[in-house]
Amino acid sequence: MKPAILLIGTTGQIGRELYRTLPRVGEVSALDRERLDLTRPAEIRHAIRTFRPALIVNAAAYTAVDRAESEESVARAINAEAPGVMAEEAKKIGAFLIHYSTDYVFDGLKTTPYEEDDPPNAQNAYGRAKLEGERAIQASGAAHLIFRTAWVYATEGRNFLLAILRLATQREELRIVRDQIGAPTLNTEIAGATTTILSRICDTKTGPFSAEEMSGIYHMTAGGETSWHGFASAILEEAVNTPATCAWFAAATGGSPLIARSVIPIASSEYPTPARRPAYSVLSNARLSRVFSVQLPAWRVQLKSAFANPRARSF
Ligand SMILES: NC(=O)c1ccc[n+]([C@@H]2O[C@H](COP(=O)([O-])OP(=O)(O)OC[C@H]3O[C@@H](n4cnc5c(N)ncnc54)[C@H](OP(=O)(O)O)[C@@H]3O)[C@@H](O)[C@H]2O)c1
Repeated sequence: MKPAILLIGTTGQIGRELYRTLPRVGEVSALDRERLDLTRPAEIRHAIRTFRPALIVNAAAYTAVDRAESEESVARAINAEAPGVMAEEAKKIGAFLIHYSTDYVFDGLKTTPYEEDDPPNAQNAYGRAKLEGERAIQASGAAHLIFRTAWVYATEGRNFLLAILRLATQREELRIVRDQIGAPTLNTEIAGATTTILSRICDTKTGPFSAEEMSGIYHMTAGGETSWHGFASAILEEAVNTPATCAWFAAATGGSPLIARSVIPIASSEYPTPARRPAYSVLSNARLSRVFSVQLPAWRVQLKSAFANPRARSF
């Protein structure tokens, strides 16, 4: 029998894709913010006790990194306390909790990719709340997977890819930060990898996976690294060859021609933001690859596939 899955957060970049892919693993019941507000712990407990799922997949989060500086208590409620409550309830019913975290738990002082066991040292309110969420899950004793990902984008919603395309229709020159290095990761890749891993865990024939033994933190990002400037430049390289008939591209540009001619690299100090961001937050994906034999493509390949067909890849 297929396991019951409770998917929390179905309107976000990753949640939307999981809603499409998780039926390969089990019977999905999905709750959006209207049906489950994560600032209300009693609602979380009630939902989990009512559905009694075998798997709880939490794709919801407070992701407004800059706004979190002035709304830290809301960010903590959603990113720290809510996952803690989910984990407590998961432990009680023997459910397996799958959760996402972020590269922003690190301070960015390293110059080589961060491993899962490197000491975190979040530099902003969002990162601190996400780190607290990780710790609450780990302390609960519930079987869990925490996938730390980074620089997530999609062909819909609000993200860097779509912001750059919109700006490229408005300005001839874009000035983009060059001194923050990371790995832009496409939502479909994260959902695809998560689904593959859960299928393997749930399929005893392809063992030797067991939820308890696999529990822990795993980095899950695109391969390679770039700066926001490098990412913006690559977006424009792809964009010039994209036909106006591509629906998401037309929606992003409003059908207007691209007028951007140059992407100027600038320092973070020239683009001050409320939240401080790590200068280097590349994550090593070696553990994911070693344990689950899952490896996400290089960021540049992912970007190309987003332009070619956002849902081209299936693991
Ligand atoms: N975006 C990134 O660059 C990035 C980077 C690293 C890690 N991550 C992590 O990846 C995961 C998914 O991120 P994403 O980019 O897919 O997020 P997203 O697109 O910003 O979506 C956030 C989701 O959380 C929901 N949500 C927010 N507040 C809620 C509340 N009070 N109650 C219930 N639902 C609420 C949103 O619902 P509404 O649509 O109703 O607002 C939406 O479905 C998160 O754990 C995030 O921390 C993201």
